[in-house]
Amino acid sequence: MIPSVDALLTVDPAVYKTAFNNTPVSFKHYLHQLPMFQPDALAELAKKYGERPADYYVSNSAPTPGTRFFDVKAKTLKPHEALAQLATGPMRVLLKRPENYHAGFRELLHKLFEKVVELRGGLNGEKIVRLESAIFVSAASSTTPFHFDPEINHFFQIEGGKHYHVYRPSAVREVELEDFYVEGKIEIGQVDLATRDKSLEHIFDLVPGSGFHQPQDAPHWVQTGAERSVSYAFVYETDASRARGRIFAANHYLRKLGVNPQQPGTNPGTDKAKSSVMKVVVPVRRRIVRNLDRGR
Ligand SMILES: [Fe+2]
Repeated sequence: MIPSVDALLTVDPAVYKTAFNNTPVSFKHYLHQLPMFQPDALAELAKKYGERPADYYVSNSAPTPGTRFFDVKAKTLKPHEALAQLATGPMRVLLKRPENYHAGFRELLHKLFEKVVELRGGLNGEKIVRLESAIFVSAASSTTPFHFDPEINHFFQIEGGKHYHVYRPSAVREVELEDFYVEGKIEIGQVDLATRDKSLEHIFDLVPGSGFHQPQDAPHWVQTGAERSVSYAFVYETDASRARGRIFAANHYLRKLGVNPQQPGTNPGTDKAKSSVMKVVVPVRRRIVRNLDRGR
């Protein structure tokens, strides 16, 4: 049984509301005390993933925070094998959507989501198009390289320590967002670390019981401490957060036509028009690019 939502996550509501989806903001929690996050329970959970490769990812550590995300090799180990070998070298195990494997995680996800929606002041008519959680188990001294994700995230440290370097979304240049969203991708925005504005960086030295909210498109890189680290995160997208992506996609084309486009949020009427056109254009473009790739 999971405690009440108010006990699960604590943050100053006014601070959260101001920071929501534009500035990373820390909170306290006690997920690390729940039985389902204890090492034996996690080992049992990992065994359930063996035959479902789409639901897990096992990879090496990146050599540096600036390494390109997909240059880091994936490993062929199954999650429970990787967990057993975690002490032997830097590697990372990602268990996707534990809510599909264990009722406790399903209940936890819905309670936490209810809490953060209340904190942001309700959904105000926005519709949820995706809501899911993940568990990250990393060996000591592992690095996750710099990237951003097109989703609203809440991140909880469960075991060990993590140094989480996260920038405000404004650290990603408009053209970079346009190039990412025009491809219709749903994960891993690749940007370089070296040219970011350091004044937009927040560093969270996470320990069990601490966590933070990561806005959509906030780029980040992460390093574990001297021991194994376990983290939990849940992400969601709404029809409005998806539309934001389509507006950047439209701006990609406008910029090519020599227009200096307006950022999402500047003009609701223009936003709406761009978003509906791109609902058609982005999937078509994806299909064309895929076919061209196949033809090569
Ligand atoms: Fe990420």
